Amino acid sequence: MPKIQVLDHPLIQHKLTYIRDINTGTKEFRELVDEVATLMAYEITRDLPLTEKEIETPIGKGKSDVLAGKKLGIIPILRAGLGMVEGILNLIPAAKVGHVGLYRDPETFEPVEYYVKLPKDVSERDLILVDPMLATGGSAIEAVNSLKKRGAKSIRFMCLIAAPEGVKAMTDAHPDVDIYIAALDEKLDEKGYIVPGLGDAGDRLFGTK
Ligand code: PRP
Ligand code: URA
Repeated sequence: MPKIQVLDHPLIQHKLTYIRDINTGTKEFRELVDEVATLMAYEITRDLPLTEKEIETPIGKGKSDVLAGKKLGIIPILRAGLGMVEGILNLIPAAKVGHVGLYRDPETFEPVEYYVKLPKDVSERDLILVDPMLATGGSAIEAVNSLKKRGAKSIRFMCLIAAPEGVKAMTDAHPDVDIYIAALDEKLDEKGYIVPGLGDAGDRLFGTK
């Protein structure tokens, strides 16, 4: 069974409340998404392996831990996933960034793929797939299909807000992908929007409507 973890750190929850607020403008929305992405990245990288290194301090010699250099990749689902990339890179600047371009057909809710560009060694990397929203799950499922088709073996998915319908669809389709969520909301409405959610993540991030 995949791990489904709600990251209920108070700072994440506080910032998410303002992200949701209809009165939060584009600039502040973007800044808050960036900050929450950093906090979530901090939480989900707790299991990164360490290796011991000889050190010399002004006082003497000793040993101390550094990251073992595991290869990581950040994969935003375009376009809203872009809003989370810089926040993660703040903590893991050496990660490579790949892109999967998908949009959800407004009538059918089916994902339509229009762009994929990944690091060459994608099969050797631990990938963090990011998108603010997991609604029906169609986009995330298709993004993981796309990554696996190109050789990806280790994928985790990180999103701000998920609907129960999306979590179920995603875990049924990809039981090997752990899911990290800032909030699990109530349901989807008839237009496939998460209730209460935050509205259209891409439009709010980029000021389009
Ligand atoms: C949004 C969101 C997800 C998708 C979630 O993207 O960023 O990718 O919808 O919905 P789903 O779980 O039902 O597939 P959208 O299709 O609006 O595209 P955008 O990021 O270009 O705005
Ligand atoms: N995509 C969004 O941007 N928001 C939702 O609530 C659902 C899908």
